[in-house]
Amino acid sequence: MTQRQNTPAPRNTADVVILGAGPAGLLLANLLHRNGVDCAVLERATRAHVQTRARAGFLAATTVRTLERHGLADGLHRRGHRHGTCEFRTDDGRFRLDYATLGRRDQHTVYPQQDLVTDLLTHYLDAGGRIHFETEALAVPDPHSTRPTVTVRDADGRPDHWQARYVAGCDGRHGAARRSLPPGTVRHHRDHGVSWLGLLAQAPPSLDAVGYALHPHGFAGHMARTPHVTRYYLQYERGTPADTWTEDRIWHELDTRMRTDDHGPLHHGPIAHRTVVDLESDVVQPLRHGSLLLAGDAASLISPSAAKGANLAVLEAELLAHALTDTLAHGDRGALDRYSAQALTHIWRAQDFSLWMIRLLHAEPGQPHGESFFHESLRRSRLASLRTSRTHQDWFAENYVGV
Ligand code: APR
Repeated sequence: MTQRQNTPAPRNTADVVILGAGPAGLLLANLLHRNGVDCAVLERATRAHVQTRARAGFLAATTVRTLERHGLADGLHRRGHRHGTCEFRTDDGRFRLDYATLGRRDQHTVYPQQDLVTDLLTHYLDAGGRIHFETEALAVPDPHSTRPTVTVRDADGRPDHWQARYVAGCDGRHGAARRSLPPGTVRHHRDHGVSWLGLLAQAPPSLDAVGYALHPHGFAGHMARTPHVTRYYLQYERGTPADTWTEDRIWHELDTRMRTDDHGPLHHGPIAHRTVVDLESDVVQPLRHGSLLLAGDAASLISPSAAKGANLAVLEAELLAHALTDTLAHGDRGALDRYSAQALTHIWRAQDFSLWMIRLLHAEPGQPHGESFFHESLRRSRLASLRTSRTHQDWFAENYVGV
């Protein structure tokens, strides 16, 4: 289904074909369209699906500034709310970090990703942008061609193809862009060996902070989404199906792991959505393969431990929009290689902090007693330093909110 047509363009061609209508693909589409670059978005799912799919929700200050710079922040200013505190809970008690007063004094804006996607889509369509829903990219058979083709299955299930000068792979970790990478492409992959049960509870937040509980049963996390919806995470045994635990068991574990002597029980409510997340990192290097460019989850997968995924997607989309515009409008031949190098600098920095968080939040899985004692002692020492050292707190705040 095509949503509104721009000035007439030949059917199934665009200078830039963008795969995927997540935050990366839609920000890129908005910026390219505004810069006068002929582009079209191909999205596998329906419009209703992309606008309602619950994902991340913590926008970094740099992300908000990027969206403001391009006039795309009206929704998040109206309905998002600022957030600048996190709380660590252990069997020794709890402590809070007001990270909005530390480091660069930046804070998050809590705004559900599906609302951001809806805003970006609305702006793009209002400006006359082209997008085709229910159109699945199957492959980019020859990414090194100067006129690459994207093979697709259209909304009626028929095979079709698109012709482009550049293809922006913003179609996530299981998309066609990753499948089309030339043999020998380097993918740095790390399985952190830990899984989370991700939960959306129809219950008001129980803390006015992001909560990280480090408990002998495993990690538990609390993140406000809206006044009526809270995201929780529970460390969960790898390979266990998401529907194994009853709601009673889930709330019992959350209550147990998050309990402190001086704070009341959590607000319970129905679990509206649950999913298992295996904590993994994965970076494709480089992000340019001839005419195929990667951004967002297609470029790099990051564990949700520090809420960096959507923020990296926005940052990369802006860098890629500049690079494609410089290439297509100004003939700058080096711009796309520079995109890859610049984006990877940010990606590795975020991966580093995310790994630091993973090591802080979890006991080392499957370690013999001596090794796990060593790791536990390091975790306690790291937490003590975070509790007491202003320098460490500033470092944490800068990395926690930034990308
Ligand atoms: N063809 C067309 N569209 C596809 C295909 C395909 N073969 N495969 C996937 N898609 C679409 C998905 O339906 C989705 O709408 O690509 C889009 C990818 O969007 P996201 O997964 O949101 O990825 P991205 O834009 O990179 O944003 C990353 O999303 O998963 C969260 O935590 C992650 O917050 C991070 C952010």
